[in-house]
Amino acid sequence: MHEELSRLQAEALAALADAADAAGLEAWRVRYLGRKGALTDTMKLLGTLPREARPAYGQAANEVKNALEAAFAERQEALKAAALQVELTGAALDVTLPGRLPALGHLHITTQTLRQFYAIFAEMGFQVYDAPDVETDEYNFGLLNMPPYHPARDMWDTFWVTQGSPDLSEKPTSARELVLRTHTSPGQIRVMRERCPEPIRVILPGKCYRYEQITARSEHQFYQVEGLAVGKGIRLTDLVGTLQQFARRMYGAGRRLRVRGSYFPFTEPSIEADMDCILCGGEGCGVCKYSGWLEIAGAGMVHPTVLRNGGYDPELYSGFAFGFGVERPALMKYDIHDIRYFYGNDLRFLGQFG
Ligand code: DAH
Repeated sequence: MHEELSRLQAEALAALADAADAAGLEAWRVRYLGRKGALTDTMKLLGTLPREARPAYGQAANEVKNALEAAFAERQEALKAAALQVELTGAALDVTLPGRLPALGHLHITTQTLRQFYAIFAEMGFQVYDAPDVETDEYNFGLLNMPPYHPARDMWDTFWVTQGSPDLSEKPTSARELVLRTHTSPGQIRVMRERCPEPIRVILPGKCYRYEQITARSEHQFYQVEGLAVGKGIRLTDLVGTLQQFARRMYGAGRRLRVRGSYFPFTEPSIEADMDCILCGGEGCGVCKYSGWLEIAGAGMVHPTVLRNGGYDPELYSGFAFGFGVERPALMKYDIHDIRYFYGNDLRFLGQFG
């Protein structure tokens, strides 16, 4: 009979070694130590034994039970420790590892250039004035001394917008015709009409639009920074000095400025300002097309008609105006050969100017 108990013990211990997890362990416990388990079955045999054999059998069965319970507890501990070990090594978290860098954006190269303009002109006392992108024919051309059919209008290939909204219908035709401004110059009239008779010193930055073929050198949308100073006793030398100061602040202290006569309907006299080439310093190179000079702005003394259109008496007041391209300086500065990169939204390009 005791043999039966020894076999049970051996079988149970072998099965216990196979229990690999909590579920296996529980199944084992039910099977061998449970109320209806194998050990309970062997105890039932007790009643069938001769009275004198019972104590010894009972004691043996108890020993088996104790041994199995001890083995169970031990196995349970071992499995718990193993599970803990798996958890500790499996889900390893090294808090000393460097984190993943979030993708940091930065200002667009044009915005950066614009802000350089603002900073430099602010130091010379120029405020920033915002004028609308959609203009009337009157402001974009007429009030700037270009009446309808004036040949100078050909200087700007224009996007004409559908006729103005109903509330403009009272106005003359040229005030109803809407255009996407071809330059920032119409803003001059707006500031003058708003500020007259105060003296004015403003820059007018913004986007301009031209009905042009898109090429490496021209986009149909681009930025300009217009400048306007109106007051008493303002002279051409003030304009030249201002442009020269700008060139030196923007491109380096040693920059030289050259002025050429030019023509714009809204200035008289009109000039074109060049600066010695930032790449070759005037020696001649591919960037300046071997001339040694780079064109930086159109400018001039505000035409008497334009002053009058702004509300100022040209007998008492004078003023100067200038117009800079914004992409061009960046093209020159970084030796970029295609203006289309600016607004092509290619991060491989834009990311280089962080
Ligand atoms: N508006 C001109 C253009 O787009 C640039 C310009 C020239 C602006 C002379 C001025 C100026 O204010 O005085 O081509």
